[in-house]
Amino acid sequence: MIVEDDQVLISLTGITKEFPGVKALEGVSLEIRKGEVLALVGENGAGKSTLIKILSGLYQKTSGEIRVNGKVVEIKDTKHAQELGISTIFQEPTLAPELTAVQNLYLGREIVMTGLRSMDEKTMYEETEKLYRKFFSTVEDLHVPVKELGALKNRVIEIAKAISFKASVVIMDEPTAQLADHEREVLFDFIRTLKEQGVSIIYVSHHLRELFLLADRMHVMRDGKNVATVNKSETNIDQLVSMMVGREVSNYIVKKEVPVGEEVLRVTDLNRQGILKNINFNLRKGEIVGIAGLAGSGRTETLRAVVGADPINSGNVEVGGKSCKIKSPKDAIKAGIGLLPENRKMHGALIDLSVSHNITMAAMDRIIANKLVLKKKKESHIAEDYVQRLGIKTPTIHQKVRFLSGGNQQKVILAKWLFTESKVLIFDEPTQGIDVGAKVEVYNLIAEFVQNGGGVLLVSSELPELMGLCDRIYVIHKGEFVKEFSREEATEENIMMYASGGHT
Ligand SMILES: Nc1ncnc2c1ncn2[C@@H]1O[C@H](COP(=O)(O)OP(=O)(O)OP(=O)(O)O)[C@@H](O)[C@H]1O
Ligand SMILES: [Mg+2]
Repeated sequence: MIVEDDQVLISLTGITKEFPGVKALEGVSLEIRKGEVLALVGENGAGKSTLIKILSGLYQKTSGEIRVNGKVVEIKDTKHAQELGISTIFQEPTLAPELTAVQNLYLGREIVMTGLRSMDEKTMYEETEKLYRKFFSTVEDLHVPVKELGALKNRVIEIAKAISFKASVVIMDEPTAQLADHEREVLFDFIRTLKEQGVSIIYVSHHLRELFLLADRMHVMRDGKNVATVNKSETNIDQLVSMMVGREVSNYIVKKEVPVGEEVLRVTDLNRQGILKNINFNLRKGEIVGIAGLAGSGRTETLRAVVGADPINSGNVEVGGKSCKIKSPKDAIKAGIGLLPENRKMHGALIDLSVSHNITMAAMDRIIANKLVLKKKKESHIAEDYVQRLGIKTPTIHQKVRFLSGGNQQKVILAKWLFTESKVLIFDEPTQGIDVGAKVEVYNLIAEFVQNGGGVLLVSSELPELMGLCDRIYVIHKGEFVKEFSREEATEENIMMYASGGHT
C-alpha cells in the first residue's frame, strides 16, 4: 500500500542503539501514520522499550534518522519529545510516590494564574477530577499521596497523565499490566477516541488478543531488528507469534497428574477489617490452587496476609501441619513460604546485583560448599540453566538485573523463587509482561515445582491460565471466598458469575 507522505507522522530509519556489550537495536525502520494504532510486538528483550525511550527522549540513538512531520529531529530529552507532541506511558512506574494525583498530573507544567506566581490549584483539581471520573466512580483520593493508592490506581493516574497532554502521538508501553477489566475497557475507549481525533498511538503489549482488538498495523521485532510490518486484517495470532519468536511455540500447559500428598498449607479464619472476611483454604503437596477474582476483590491482599506482609485482625496459618506465627515475609520464608509479588519492580529483585546472584540468593544453602570456588561454579551452573530454560535475554549471567528488559527482570525473579527450597510458593500474576514463548516455560517450571513435592498458590487475571494450571480454584468476591471449584467444574462462565457476585 502506498501512503502519501503527509499521512506519515513519524518515520524512523535505520535506528541503532548500543549499550556496553549489547546491541539493543540494529537498523530499525518504521513509520507511524496519522491517526493509526501501531502495535510493537516482540519477545522480552526484542528492543521495544528501547525504541520507545529513544522516541521519548530518554535515550539517545547511536545512529539512524528520526523525522517528525517530514523534518529530521534529534530528540534531546523528554521535554523536547513532549514539545514535538510525543507523550509516553512507560513500562516502569514514573509517578512521584509522595505527591498526590493532582500534583503528579501537573508535575512540571503547573498552571500559573495570570499575574500571580502561584499555581491555579482550583483548575488543576477540576481538570484532574474530570479525568478521574472517567476511570473511577469516586474522586475521594485526589489529595492522598499516590503511594497509598495501590498499583492499579497508580497505573490509571499515569495513563490519565499521558493522555492529558495535547499530543499527536501517545506511546503506551504495556499500559494494561495491572489494570482491571473495567479499566482496560475505559483505556480502550480512550484510545479509540484519541484515534478519531487524529492522534496516533504506539501500543506495546504481550496480550496479543488486545492487539487484534486495537491495532491497525503491527510491527514485529526480534533481537533488535525489524522482522515485518503487517496489517491486522492480513494476519492472525499464530502467524504473529511465529514471526515474534522465529520458531514453533506450543500453547499447551503440561501438567502431569501428580499424586496429591499431605497438606502443606492451611489458612483458617483469616480476617482483615474491611478487606478480608473469614478466609479458609488449604493446599496439599503436588497441588496448584488458584484464586480467581476481579481486581480489587482481595486476591493480592489474601496472599499478602498469608505471608505477613499486611497486618491481620485474626487468622491462623499452618505450614506442614504446624501452626506458624507469621508476622513478616521473612517469617514466611523461614516457615517455607515464598511469595512472588505482583509489583515486582519494587519488591522482587535487587536490581544492582547480577542475574546469577539474584537467582541463587534465596537458596544459598543449596550451593554451599567448603571452597568458595566450587560454590561460584555451582552458582554459575544453576544460573546458566535457568537463563537458558526461561530464555532470559542477557549478555552474561553477570549482567546487573537493572539492565535487563522488563520481562527478563521478571523471569529472573521467577527463577529465584523456583530455585528456593520453599514448601509453598505463592505467585501473584506470574506471567504478567512475559512473552508468549516464555509463558509456557514458566508454566512448565511451576508444574515441575509441584511434581517435586511443592504446593503452589496462584493468582492470575487470565482465566485460561488459571483453568489450565490449577487443580482447584477458589473464587473471591469482596474479600470473601464464595466458591471452590474443582478442575472439572471450573469454566470461565461459572467463575465469572461468582467473581462478579452474580450468585447472590
Ligand atoms: N540501559 C541498558 N543497558 C544495557 N542494556 C540494556 C539497557 N536497556 C536495555 N538493554 C538491553 O536491550 C535489549 C532490549 O531491551 P528492551 O527493554 O528494549 O526490550 P523489550 O522489547 O522492551 O522487552 P520486554 O518485553 O521484556 O519489555 C535487552 O537485551 C536489554 O537487556
Ligand atoms: Mg519493555
